[in-house]
Amino acid sequence: MQCLSTILVLSAVFAGSSCYEVTNLTFPASFLFGTATAAYQIEGAWNESGKSVSRWDHITHTSSIVVDGSNGDVACDSYHKYKEDIEMLKQLGVDFYRFSIAWTRIIPSGFANDINQAGVDYYNNLIDGLLEAGIEPWVTMYHWDIPQVLNYIGDFSNPYTIDYVVDYADVLFSLFGDRVKTWITFNEPLSFCAHFPLSSAAFGVHLPAGISEYLCSHNIVIAHAKIYRLYQLKYKWEQNGRISIALNTEYAEPATDSPADIEASNRKLLYDLGWYAYPLVHGDYPRVMIDTIRNLSAIQGFPFSRLPMFTLNEKVIIRGAYDFFALNHYTSSLTADASSVIGSPSFLNDDLVEQFKDPAWGNSSASWLTVYPEGLRKLLVHIKETYNDPEIAITENGFADEPGVLNDVGRVSYYQSYLSEVLKAMLEDGVKVTAYTAWSLMDNFEWYNGYTVRFGLYYVDFDSPDRTRTAKESAGYYRNVIQTRCLTENCGT
Ligand SMILES: *[C@@H]1O[C@H](CO)[C@@H](O)[C@H](O)[C@H]1NC(C)=O
Ligand SMILES: *[C@@H]1O[C@H](CO)[C@@H](O)[C@H](O)[C@H]1NC(C)=O
Ligand SMILES: *[C@@H]1O[C@H](CO)[C@@H](O)[C@H](O)[C@H]1NC(C)=O
Ligand SMILES: *[C@@H]1O[C@H](CO)[C@@H](O)[C@H](O)[C@H]1NC(C)=O
Repeated sequence: MQCLSTILVLSAVFAGSSCYEVTNLTFPASFLFGTATAAYQIEGAWNESGKSVSRWDHITHTSSIVVDGSNGDVACDSYHKYKEDIEMLKQLGVDFYRFSIAWTRIIPSGFANDINQAGVDYYNNLIDGLLEAGIEPWVTMYHWDIPQVLNYIGDFSNPYTIDYVVDYADVLFSLFGDRVKTWITFNEPLSFCAHFPLSSAAFGVHLPAGISEYLCSHNIVIAHAKIYRLYQLKYKWEQNGRISIALNTEYAEPATDSPADIEASNRKLLYDLGWYAYPLVHGDYPRVMIDTIRNLSAIQGFPFSRLPMFTLNEKVIIRGAYDFFALNHYTSSLTADASSVIGSPSFLNDDLVEQFKDPAWGNSSASWLTVYPEGLRKLLVHIKETYNDPEIAITENGFADEPGVLNDVGRVSYYQSYLSEVLKAMLEDGVKVTAYTAWSLMDNFEWYNGYTVRFGLYYVDFDSPDRTRTAKESAGYYRNVIQTRCLTENCGT
């Protein structure tokens, strides 16, 4: 395999594997590039200007779940430094910036009885600053920072929370919808319903595993659909924006080519992605989830299936409630059948698979994130085939390394190889990918990893009161990709 000169230096990061051949295909002129962040991970100002306490303020202040004992109290201080953020976005030359709004800044009580003007002003300034710079705001309504008052009453496992979040969305449309044309309702429900579950004392209100994940996801699908329908009825004619929900999944690569492992991989994708995408595209949960969880529930002595059912009315509003498919993707796992292993009730056991990493894949500094770019292409083809060939926006993709790495060859190499696979999916497999989002604009508070792993195109010095930002190698690389639409030094002419 022939390597381009720039890649030779980088190939070392692919421990145990030969270097990756970056494609010389080019992105069409209409393709959009952006970067993303989330409010709790960057804003800081956790107790300023009328903001209330969110689930993550509460977790970080009361538990020891964060490995370095840190929190997002100050984070990148973007509440005060958003103008610098906009300057970085201008340097990169991105088409859009995906950021999230903190519910606790806009309606601190959790309910839409009282709007906090200081919070509204902050997001107005950010949105207007982006538009002046020619950058489209893509807004996530909910990126895991539910008002703590609502976490106390069961978070998204409580069906009343559906009404409260729809009210919040209504406020956002009325305040910002004149300028925001791309909305993401929820970011990664798989993460906040199943991986940071309400069944864990640290993450929430200690509800039973195997029940609360399903209530949370069920209510999220309904809430998303209600927000979508509200927009269609009340705002679409005037604002004409687009709405989706950002769904995350690894690619599940079969561990062997045995029929059982191939089926297990497909089942895993239906559990992790189909849990949400199937209702939205086809009107109900995947058949394999309905049947398997009903059977497991019976074996475990429950008088009902732990997977709730949608009513007919719900199915009608859910089906088709999206304008494009929003995908967050980072990594893959090898997947093997484990249908003989019946564990305790838990979403994580109900899929009857076992997953592990291929030692040949490159590593990152986050143990869950291994580098397998082919997985992204396979996932995009899976989505095309399973979900009616939708328009797909990749709303997150990125690489983790250690603090302080400015010559971040591992990240450059990751973007080169993953973007290569996006191009192949588009140009060779006919997948309709229209946008790509690099996670993240800058180093930030990485949830339970605190500040120990870094995803930024820009380095942030968290020891400095100024939270100084510095461009890494990857920022220059991404800027060049956006300008040239090409991943190598030479795509020909
Ligand atoms: C906000 O929190 C900081 C700690 O992050 C604390 O020093 C400060 O006194 C608090 N401000 C208010 C108004 O409570
Ligand atoms: C569920 O149980 C029924 C009855 O035992 C069986 O026929 C069916 O194959 C099972 N389905 C799954 C997906 O486990
Ligand atoms: C990958 O693993 C090697 C060997 O353990 C380590 O030296 C390297 O720092 C790791 N890469 C990243 C990006 O953390
Ligand atoms: C692109 O790469 C292919 C081989 O992968 C090569 O045949 C072709 O000449 C290259 N095109 C340009 C314009 O460099």
